[in-house]
Amino acid sequence: MLEIENLHVSVAGKKILDGLSLSVPAGQVAAIMGPNGSGKSTLSYVIAGRADYDVTEGSIRLGGVDLLDKTAAERAALGLFLVFQYPLEIPGVATMTFLKAALNAQRKMRDEAEMAIPDFMKRVREAAARLNIPQDMLKRPVNLGFSGGEKKRMEILQMALLEPRFAILDELDSGLDIDALRICADGVNALRSKERSLLVITHYQRLLDYIVPDVVHVMSEGKIVRSGGPELALELEKSGYADYASEAA
Ligand SMILES: Nc1ncnc2c1ncn2[C@@H]1O[C@H](COP(=O)(O)OP(=O)(O)O)[C@@H](O)[C@H]1O
Ligand SMILES: [Mg+2]
Repeated sequence: MLEIENLHVSVAGKKILDGLSLSVPAGQVAAIMGPNGSGKSTLSYVIAGRADYDVTEGSIRLGGVDLLDKTAAERAALGLFLVFQYPLEIPGVATMTFLKAALNAQRKMRDEAEMAIPDFMKRVREAAARLNIPQDMLKRPVNLGFSGGEKKRMEILQMALLEPRFAILDELDSGLDIDALRICADGVNALRSKERSLLVITHYQRLLDYIVPDVVHVMSEGKIVRSGGPELALELEKSGYADYASEAA
């Protein structure tokens, strides 16, 4: 599903990803763990197509399609979705309006008709209820004044509506209390399927108690330095990243 080969990326002249290779097959839930500053968020932004990153070498393919020459919107239409570590606020745009625009923009790029409003409303209401999102939150501007937990639940709501085939969750647990974490993780787990892959980025093992990955990759200084099963996360929880990160020394 996702194939990254020998990816080298710089930001503002500083090398951040340094020959990173990663393969995530369809249906797999892969975790990336790594210390702060190892390049995890940079990786997620580069996959999603955010500007300002200078890819000097390597390739990223999704379902065989080269992503690097595609815009962020085109990548989203191909089924890519990123849950931001810090979700953006959009003053002046009601959440419901935003969700509808996001969904229809993707459908349009795929030459699909807009979803009928009653069908859309029904889907949003059902998905919101599952995530404990009150209906009145959907009338407020996107993320404006939302708590950390509310923002993350809104991201999962978007993900549930857009039904991506590849979703990246960057530090889903940051800013979440344990109840909010459980609700978000349940929402994510409900979206696990044979056709959908997830890349769960975190520096704490705790999240992986709730979203149990099939494989764990350890990232350090811009590349994957070790891969293993879920037990690798538990091992890291005990030993820390000291073996992997020179910066932590
Ligand atoms: N826009 C930027 N300009 C300069 N340095 C950046 C920029 N974005 C990220 N970095 C640097 O790249 C490194 C990796 O950052 P990041 O990808 O956020 O790591 P992580 O998510 O693993 O904590 C850090 O040293 C960070 O300071
Ligand atoms: Mg980060």
